Amino acid sequence: MNPVELKNGIYWVGAVDWAIRDFHGYETPRGTTYNNYLILDNEPTLIDAVHFDFVHTSLENISRLIEPQKIKNIIINHIENDHATGLEQILYYAPQANIYMTEKGKKGLSKFIDLSKYKVHTVKTGDSISIGKRTLIFIETPMMHWPDSMFTYIKEDKVLISQDAFGQHLASVERFDDEFIKNHSMDLLEDAVIDYYANILMLYSNVIKSKIEEIKKSGIEVEMIAPDHGVIWRSHIDKVLKLYSDMVDAKAKLGAVIVYDTMWHSTEQMVYPIAKGIESEGIPVKIIKLRATPKSVAIKEIWKYRGLIVGSPTLNNNIFPSVADFLTYLKGLRPKNRLFSAFGSYGWSGEAVKDMFEYARAMKLELFEPGIRVLYKPSEEELNKCYEFGIAFGKALKDYHAKI
Ligand code: FEO
Repeated sequence: MNPVELKNGIYWVGAVDWAIRDFHGYETPRGTTYNNYLILDNEPTLIDAVHFDFVHTSLENISRLIEPQKIKNIIINHIENDHATGLEQILYYAPQANIYMTEKGKKGLSKFIDLSKYKVHTVKTGDSISIGKRTLIFIETPMMHWPDSMFTYIKEDKVLISQDAFGQHLASVERFDDEFIKNHSMDLLEDAVIDYYANILMLYSNVIKSKIEEIKKSGIEVEMIAPDHGVIWRSHIDKVLKLYSDMVDAKAKLGAVIVYDTMWHSTEQMVYPIAKGIESEGIPVKIIKLRATPKSVAIKEIWKYRGLIVGSPTLNNNIFPSVADFLTYLKGLRPKNRLFSAFGSYGWSGEAVKDMFEYARAMKLELFEPGIRVLYKPSEEELNKCYEFGIAFGKALKDYHAKI
């Protein structure tokens, strides 16, 4: 790929990773990009590095604009490996560059790179540097989503470089939101934003909410948001801000997601009547079988809908491993404002349903207890009970949704 100009003298010099399918356990069927940005000014300035595997692509892009040796400043907005492991390779060409990052960024990055060899400057919110015609203003965004994180705002161009925030794991030829929507769809882009938020940022919703409010109050004007993954926002900034505002408030549609796994199809047989019962209340249902679907996709769907029912057989006195894995992942992301219930089959002890409620209790979800379970295989009568359980859950879901 070639550099892409965002605004006069500001270039995307990153790389597209078409092939990545596992991003630290988060499945990324659409790949991703590692974005970084070069500003050509009196002091050429690079904002962010990229993943080590792609640093040569980024250096080639930089070289098409200037000799990398001429980079005077490097801003590190976030030290996670997908953005900072390429830094040393860039510093090989520009060891004289001034590096700017937060205090926590310096502390963290020094575990990976011997920073004593370089000119490192720590910055905090409100600090700025002049690079010629432009002023770069730093805004710390701790826990959005790492302690070191910050944004860089290019004042004269009204461009906000937002590291992971507003990003998407989406490899594409298009670099801008309007291009992507024209060639694909807004729905696909929105889905990618929700997917990213649900799997990476959900846990930090309160922090993100207060940071967005703080930035709005500061009165800075933003004409472009350039994240470190996916497309750059220049036409639909209001749309992505609204999406974020809904997500930080855990807004959801009236609907239910049934997530399950099964051993010998007994738990699976319970799914259909439960779903039909919920649907009979006029509520749409999504069904996700964990062994056939990445858990990151399940998380995204849960983020969209108010109701969640999880199904698991009992195996060796425990929740089935794929379901336990999913619940552990979900618990770490701390979802809010969801009505939860559980179901499953068992052979003798039958702990899974009770144990799944314990997960939900720890997550402080609203509980629809006691769920439903069947011995070995559901009989006709028990399948009818599953249907009735679905109806009862649907009614409770409507009440809960109206209350939230
Ligand atoms: Fe894209 Fe938090 O790294």
